[in-house]
Amino acid sequence: MILHHATPQAAGRWCDEQRAAGRSIGFVPTMGALHAGHLSLLRRAKRENDSCCASLFVNPLQFNDAEDYASYPRDTQKDLRMFAAAACDMVFSGALGDFFPGAGSVAGIPVKNAGPFGRGLEEQFRPGHLDGVRTIVEKLFAAVGPCRAYFGEKDFQQCLVVADLARQFDGVEVVACPTVREADGLACSSRNVLLSADGRKKAASIYRALLRAKTLWNENVRDAAHLRRAMDEVLAAAGAAVEYADLRDPLAWSGEPPAGEMQRAQALVAARIGRVRLIDNLRLDG
Ligand code: PAJ
Repeated sequence: MILHHATPQAAGRWCDEQRAAGRSIGFVPTMGALHAGHLSLLRRAKRENDSCCASLFVNPLQFNDAEDYASYPRDTQKDLRMFAAAACDMVFSGALGDFFPGAGSVAGIPVKNAGPFGRGLEEQFRPGHLDGVRTIVEKLFAAVGPCRAYFGEKDFQQCLVVADLARQFDGVEVVACPTVREADGLACSSRNVLLSADGRKKAASIYRALLRAKTLWNENVRDAAHLRRAMDEVLAAAGAAVEYADLRDPLAWSGEPPAGEMQRAQALVAARIGRVRLIDNLRLDG
């Protein structure tokens, strides 16, 4: 059985004890419904640190859609077994009031702005989502204290937002980890289990669209509109409802879509397959 603390306060005391004993901490924040992507983060956190801890909290602040929050897969007992199997040393959860004492309800919580990397793309299609992420991750970092914190590049904009947040904390370093994929390239996601059999096939078009952009890039196509159109075509042919299939300079984030020739490019896609919203991204250069 894995050590499971029910509050961030108890988790913080455990982390203090680890550091007092000279042990470094690798921290993996999660919302549970663990899959191979989470496991890769946990294993890396364990490999690169003396102790590995994780959080398991389905954060209501980052769901701008009540149905998405209600249908989010939850299986704590299964998750605890998977945390243990990944050699994680401690996992903590908490009630909303443990993270935000005195708040009462979601409506009473002051949500922080996601900052400059929250602009565009996710902001446009999931307004408030990255604000909610930043608000909870600030609480998680405060609870755990100095650590290396592991995040997945699948959530590219989230990685940028939390790396920006970490600059406020002494001794918190964000480590961005590669996206783990299923055999057909679909990025592992907790939401994949919600796809129908037909939807599961359609979902593979997201990675195909990203690969199409990469192929064009390798053939020296640099024009943003051309790359965007190519991704849209692949997604439309599969019947995916595209929210965005866009590009950004990964080293100079902007809320606005690029125009003309690009020097560096991250291709990013968000699409709805039925009621399930999926995101993915791929670096085209390098
Ligand atoms: P969750 O979706 O549970 O993801 C937890 C971590 O796993 C995130 O850093 C995410 O980017 C990473 N991850 C998800 N799919 C992955 C994949 N296919 N390959 C590699 N890493 C993957 O992201 C969140 O939770 C929340 O927003 C959270 C940061 C916990 C704040 O509530």
